Amino acid sequence: MDRLLVTGGAGFIGANFVRHVIEHTDARVTVLDKLTYAASREALADLPPDRIDLVIGDVADAGLVDPLVAAHDTVVHLAAETHNDSSLDDPTPFVMTNVVGTFTLLQAVRKHDVRLHHVSTDEVYGDLALDDPKRFTEDTPYRPSSPYSATKAGSDHLVRAWVRSFGLRATISNCSNNYGHWQHVEKFIPRQITEVLEGRRPRLYGDGRQVRDWIHADDHSSALVAILERGRIGETYLVGADGERSNRDVVRLLLRLMGRPEDDFELVNDRAGHDVRYAIESGKLRLELGWQPRFSDFEAGLSDTVDWYRSHRQWWAPHKRATEAAYAAKGQ
Ligand code: NAD
Ligand code: DAU
Repeated sequence: MDRLLVTGGAGFIGANFVRHVIEHTDARVTVLDKLTYAASREALADLPPDRIDLVIGDVADAGLVDPLVAAHDTVVHLAAETHNDSSLDDPTPFVMTNVVGTFTLLQAVRKHDVRLHHVSTDEVYGDLALDDPKRFTEDTPYRPSSPYSATKAGSDHLVRAWVRSFGLRATISNCSNNYGHWQHVEKFIPRQITEVLEGRRPRLYGDGRQVRDWIHADDHSSALVAILERGRIGETYLVGADGERSNRDVVRLLLRLMGRPEDDFELVNDRAGHDVRYAIESGKLRLELGWQPRFSDFEAGLSDTVDWYRSHRQWWAPHKRATEAAYAAKGQ
């Protein structure tokens, strides 16, 4: 891993991952990113210019992707449309980027025999009941619910087919919900933090009893490096940090950390097809690759995230008004 190409490296997890790689390895990084609404050049701005290049473009553009892949020894693929709510409003960019973009990348990686790691989501497995003792494992059948998760499932299947049919040197990871610095204000935790910072109330979809399994983005990054360095080709690794919490509990904790009454939230219109619960069993990653999460204290990680959004208002404020207008139009 000397010359690393990171697609979607200007997004939330991509930027955290690139920062982690620059700090913890000697790799030189090229970011390929279309710079959609979800991207942030600022998240990469302070990195050493001799370690990182930014190429602005579409992962579904074969003419751009082919020579770029040829110039690297490893590709980490994060570029995607990622917001479930938006995928319900307009699935088209999800199909184009997540499915066609991944296909385009696979063709180039195959042609130039470059190592690929494909970053995916636990949502490909659908959801679990609140009282189900089971968690997702690498053997759980695929059962995606939303247009977003269906396109990510499709991209995973493409990668597996290219491994089996063409001997592609690829691995896949499916991770649970990330939180941390540089996450767009459309997503649950940054939305609620910035609502409180703007003097409004957090908004829970439906009854707010849905459960997500939270992991700090830095721990996702360290898992990706472990898979790149020690993962077995053709394998899938589930990434999670035992962080199951209901949306209600997360909002109550946030309100407490921010000095507001714990019940000072609103219940709003539910998401169509809302997945009830995600939960990751990450034993394979831990036992096989010796990975451990560093942020085992969710309250401390959340408190750090609140502080970060407090001190980065100039970064998120320009996106807040349009984001909230779109939610308001849907009664959310
Ligand atoms: P994000 O929406 O914050 O960032 C996505 C990035 O991809 C943006 O920089 C965007 O400009 C770029 N992009 C979008 N379309 C592109 C295209 N056609 N060509 C090139 N670049 C394009 O997303 P994120 O939350 O950082 O997620 C990154 C990856 O991790 C995604 O593949 C996602 O499915 C996966 N993932 C996310 C989570 C999570 O909790 N956020 C959890 C598990 C897996
Ligand atoms: O599980 C991994 C996935 O996590 C990733 O693949 C996705 O890219 C990422 O967006 C995330 O998907 P979710 O749909 O779980 O995340 P979101 O932040 O949109 O919502 C988290 C939970 O909070 C979900 O149950 C919906 C709920 N929610 C969300 C918002 C924005 C609310 O109750 N209120 C809100 O305002």
